[in-house]
Amino acid sequence: MLYSEKVMDHFMNPRNVGKIEDADGIGEVGNAKCGDIMKIYIKVDNDIITDVKFNTFGCGSAIASSSMATEMIKGKPVSEALELTNKAVAEALDGLPAHKLHCSVLAEEAIKKAIDDYESRKNK
Ligand code: FES
Repeated sequence: MLYSEKVMDHFMNPRNVGKIEDADGIGEVGNAKCGDIMKIYIKVDNDIITDVKFNTFGCGSAIASSSMATEMIKGKPVSEALELTNKAVAEALDGLPAHKLHCSVLAEEAIKKAIDDYESRKNK
């Protein structure tokens, strides 16, 4: 089978879908080739990511990757979330086909951007 059960599960029942109105950080990224877009919202309290939501306009792997990635950083310190790699996301999903690895890269990038946004707001 092309996709693991975990990918199918997170694609069919994505966790943390939506938007946080009063987010502390927002990260939006896109892939020019496939045209997919991912937006991640984080809520931070005392340097802990207390809530995270995402909106992904994209392929099934991008949705599964954002779902898994948000689960992996929820409740974690910002410093730890910054270290989340696309490789770790793909591994947590029991692998992605090679031509779908870039979908997990979007998740890593969107989280980094959301944290960047949070940091720059904090330093204002
Ligand atoms: Fe581009 Fe999945 S095909 S994000």
